[in-house]
Amino acid sequence: MNQPSAHRHHSGAILLFGATGDLARRMLLPSLYALSLDGLISPDLRIFGTARRDLDDAGFQAMALEALEEFLPESRRNTEAMRAFVARLRYHPLDASQVADFHLLAERIGPIDDGLSIFLSTAPSLFEPTIRGLSAAGLTAPNVRIGLEKPLGTDLGSSRQINDAVAEAFSEAQTFRIDHYLGKETVQNLMALRFANVLFEPLWKAQTIEHVQITISETVGLEGRADFYDGAGALRDMVQNHMLQLLALTAMEPPAEFDATAIRDEKVKVLRSLRPVGEHEWVIGQYGEGAVGGQPVKGYLDELGKPSRTETFVAIKAHIDNWRWRGVPFYLRTGKRLGERRSEIVIQFKEVPHNIFAARGGQAVANRLVIRLQPEEYVRLLVMAKEPGIDGAGIVLREVPLDLSLTNAFSGTVRRIAYERLLLDLIEGDQTLFVRRDEVEAQWQWIDAIRAQWDRAQAAPSPMAREPGGRARRSR
Ligand code: BG6
Repeated sequence: MNQPSAHRHHSGAILLFGATGDLARRMLLPSLYALSLDGLISPDLRIFGTARRDLDDAGFQAMALEALEEFLPESRRNTEAMRAFVARLRYHPLDASQVADFHLLAERIGPIDDGLSIFLSTAPSLFEPTIRGLSAAGLTAPNVRIGLEKPLGTDLGSSRQINDAVAEAFSEAQTFRIDHYLGKETVQNLMALRFANVLFEPLWKAQTIEHVQITISETVGLEGRADFYDGAGALRDMVQNHMLQLLALTAMEPPAEFDATAIRDEKVKVLRSLRPVGEHEWVIGQYGEGAVGGQPVKGYLDELGKPSRTETFVAIKAHIDNWRWRGVPFYLRTGKRLGERRSEIVIQFKEVPHNIFAARGGQAVANRLVIRLQPEEYVRLLVMAKEPGIDGAGIVLREVPLDLSLTNAFSGTVRRIAYERLLLDLIEGDQTLFVRRDEVEAQWQWIDAIRAQWDRAQAAPSPMAREPGGRARRSR
């Protein structure tokens, strides 16, 4: 699946589907603005938006300006640049079920000899009509790329159906499946940590690692996405994609080079080595009422307004059946409305084989490497040291952190949000940080087996209450 070099050229135009939607307003338009502000996309790049809403260019530009004002951080706001940016935007309304509308859209876009990148985020029911419409209107030529935002199916079957529909119009080299975690700087840094240092790799294996924990803990609740979320749940919303990608990057063999084929080949091997989860290797929960930042918040069912067995929390003990990871559990954990926002990967090393300090009272704690992805970005290695002193009453060993704050080390550099990176890679045709079809299918296969087990066991999520301190606990 090597990318033909013809695909590595900048597109002359970008077309955003769902251009009036939440993702466009929060992420895509602010990202394109930031890229243009920094001169990373050409001033000649033509930017089109489309959605159902009946707007003209001026209406869309006004909406975009409002979105920039609302979602850009203070430091990135520049009134003149914002106005100049929105003046570049063009909009054409479209009803995705009407093929004729796609012809009009194509006419509006005009010649695409210099390439076109499409960003598609749409309701699942409009997916196939959209691909058909693009095809009919000639917007699937070999110099067109398509970025696909989730949800792309709810299980292996539906994901295959979507991928088949896409494959009829676009080759795999034209298809850019988004997992926005791969666009995060800290996630990419995981590869730098592992493969640009000689220190860690010799220890990165079952002989020295006891277990690995991957946690994405969120404080947000439904955020107005009740319908989508209730049909998905934490397993499909977070584990199937983001958490399995983090697991794959943590566990993969060193790729021969930093390129799309080499990296994705290694990730898919890990995903295919995941052992089906055992009967007692998962826990699911659903949040009750509580408080976030001192403000009372409703429980899931109240927020939803109807009964539901959807899990908002899931913890899984995963195993990778290969030589490197034999016997090392990977604990995956994610949930909404938890006590804190924190994403991290913890590598728990084994204890030293023999503690020479034991007879003198020195207790050794096994080393731990914490890779904090957000909200802070740091790498912390917990190492044992001797507490200063004459040691009359015995040797005291203490765990001390070796801290590498990436926020401080790179304090002068602009921190880009994931979509800036991903949109630029789409426009430039670099697939390294996008998910290949075989990866997605391996992910679904593993997830579907878990859900089948839940169905058989008629598993219901345990209600989760909050203690006054804010920490979530399972109520009995
Ligand atoms: C999305 C999920 O993919 O990721 C959301 O659909 C979740 O439910 C979000 O909140 C988390 O992303 P981030 O970048 O805020 O960690």
